[in-house]
Amino acid sequence: MKKQPEWDKDSWKKKQVNQQPEYRDQDTYNQILSDLSQRPPLVFPGEVEKLKTQLALAQEGKSFILQGGDCVERFQDCNAPSITNKMKILLQMSVVLTHALREPVIRIGRMAGQYFKPRSRDYEEDKDIMTFRGDSINSFERDRKSRLPDPRRLLQGFNNSGITLNYIRAMIDGGFADLHHPYTWNLYGIEKTEKWDDYREIVERILDAIHFMESFGGLQAEKLGRIEFYVSHEGLHLDYETSLTRKNGETGKYYNLGAHMLWIGDRTRDLNGAHIEYFRGISNPVGVKIGPSTKPGELIELLKILNPSNEPGRLTLITRLGRDRVDAVLPGLIRAQQQSGIGVIWSCDPMHGNTQVTGKNIKTRSFEDILAELKSSFLVHRREGSFLSAVHFELTGEDVTECTGGAIELKDDDLAKNYQTFCDPRLNYIQSMEMAFLISKLLKNPDN
Ligand code: PEP
Ligand code: CO
Repeated sequence: MKKQPEWDKDSWKKKQVNQQPEYRDQDTYNQILSDLSQRPPLVFPGEVEKLKTQLALAQEGKSFILQGGDCVERFQDCNAPSITNKMKILLQMSVVLTHALREPVIRIGRMAGQYFKPRSRDYEEDKDIMTFRGDSINSFERDRKSRLPDPRRLLQGFNNSGITLNYIRAMIDGGFADLHHPYTWNLYGIEKTEKWDDYREIVERILDAIHFMESFGGLQAEKLGRIEFYVSHEGLHLDYETSLTRKNGETGKYYNLGAHMLWIGDRTRDLNGAHIEYFRGISNPVGVKIGPSTKPGELIELLKILNPSNEPGRLTLITRLGRDRVDAVLPGLIRAQQQSGIGVIWSCDPMHGNTQVTGKNIKTRSFEDILAELKSSFLVHRREGSFLSAVHFELTGEDVTECTGGAIELKDDDLAKNYQTFCDPRLNYIQSMEMAFLISKLLKNPDN
């Protein structure tokens, strides 16, 4: 294999770097980056390596990964109820999947740092207002001044990430994930619908299993083995990510200690770009979003650059093709990966290729499109002698109205009722649970 050029934390600066904000006050910006680089990190290398070991199991088909959370976290949601609800929905979905698979499910939140967004335009239609790029960069408030990138937001984002992760850890240590806690399911939204008959049996079986285990004197999560929860975000803002990148004194390896896992977005995955350069040198597990424009030859190069030593658990390819493009595009990508001889975890993000805008100019996604992309992906992998071992969702534990459809039959006209997202539309609590039921059926039989 071709020898890779030298890497250091800053070698990306010699490459073309896209999607970065420009700060007017460079002195404050530099001071903040320097402050961030002195802060204690949010995660520890041992945890990052542990996640990689678990992802390696998924790569062998021995476990499954559920990654999910907001499209973009909001500073205003750095509070207990919002974090609790996100943990709850991810835990509940993972219980449904574990029950179907009879194997461990690794939970990775899009949480504790998902404060940066790539955008297709720098400015809104009214020219002098910049687009919103995530709370760590500018404010959602739509006026010229609020939208200017403010370096102090980087520090606020880092602090909010720390607070969020601290609360996640406290909840887990304090028993939130014990059997009886997050399993109070609020399914009355579906119970009244026609689809309920399809799900009732799954729900009853799982709840029976939980009650059965609880009847042995209230089994605690610790006794079943501590639950694990990891955090991830898109590694977009490279100065920020560099400031959280640390060298491990013992091994000499570099880790981004601002998250367990990071992913590269579809807009920043160009082979010669700065993002790929930065990511090739860190030892974290890395995800790459794979959009429909990805060419098989390009994918092979990407695999060689990001995982030259073919390390298990290192690389997750997250396809986000759109329901109608899976059949045409995915087989070529799977074959390219097989041909490369480099192992990966295949994940499906059925959200980002299925975004639509309604007649009233509201961004939405339909439950049926999301499910259709998942289903086609399961089928194509099976046909190609490969397998999907991860799913990636934009979801929330709240009762928002952002995606249409599902058993609750949300319509375009319902979207305005509780449309909260600062960026892309998310599945709400009940739609997420229903999705977990349907994935558990697909996992058993993708022809269903
Ligand atoms: C995202 O995950 O929110 C995102 C922007 O995805 P993509 O890079 O796949 O467009
Ligand atoms: Co998104």
